[in-house]
Amino acid sequence: MRAEFLGHACWYIESEGVRAIFDPFLRDNPQASRQPEDIHVDYVFVTHGGEGHTDHDADAVEIAKRNRALIVTTTELGMRYAQQGARVHRMQVGGKKGFPFGHVRFVAALHGTGVAGGHAAGIVANLFGKTFYHAGDTGLFSDLKLLDGVIEPRIDLAALPIGGNFTMNVEDAALAARWIRPKVVMPMHYDTWPAIRADADDFKRRVETGSDIEVRVLKPGETTEV
Ligand code: NI
Ligand code: MN
Repeated sequence: MRAEFLGHACWYIESEGVRAIFDPFLRDNPQASRQPEDIHVDYVFVTHGGEGHTDHDADAVEIAKRNRALIVTTTELGMRYAQQGARVHRMQVGGKKGFPFGHVRFVAALHGTGVAGGHAAGIVANLFGKTFYHAGDTGLFSDLKLLDGVIEPRIDLAALPIGGNFTMNVEDAALAARWIRPKVVMPMHYDTWPAIRADADDFKRRVETGSDIEVRVLKPGETTEV
């Protein structure tokens, strides 16, 4: 499984030829390492979005339509994207569904979403036996412990927000990482704007000290493999 950080909370994931983008936000993203027209994917995953949260879905419909890709998101956002002409599969927090590449589980996130009646989610995507957990935007909450081998096998690769203000800060995210205990964790959702400045090296120290979790700090445009 290969992961490319596209900036902010946007990730490109590729495994055995299946290509996916998570929380596509590129055109108005000051960190973006690519533009929507440079994205070639089969799936578009969206944790949450809409008013106040377009830093997670601004380019979802454009990328989906250009690629004839399937958007996988929550029910209410999915209805909105379908009305805009995208192909959509709608899920909801707590739901797990099989896909040709493996399975997807929508999990809780302590956050909001900009669509009436909607919930923010985190997403666990199992691609050919390797799991990627995208936490979306979330504050710290103790049910994150369910991700440490309880509802899914141990997560291979996780992306956690560390920027504070809207989400967990470095201290909270380091605690979350220890609760989730992924093999590899990557910080996201920081340094995009002044309100979410954070020290990723401090996050790395806090997580790695006395644990078997590896922190990989990727700059936008960088790639890693698990
Ligand atoms: Ni948000
Ligand atoms: Mn956000």
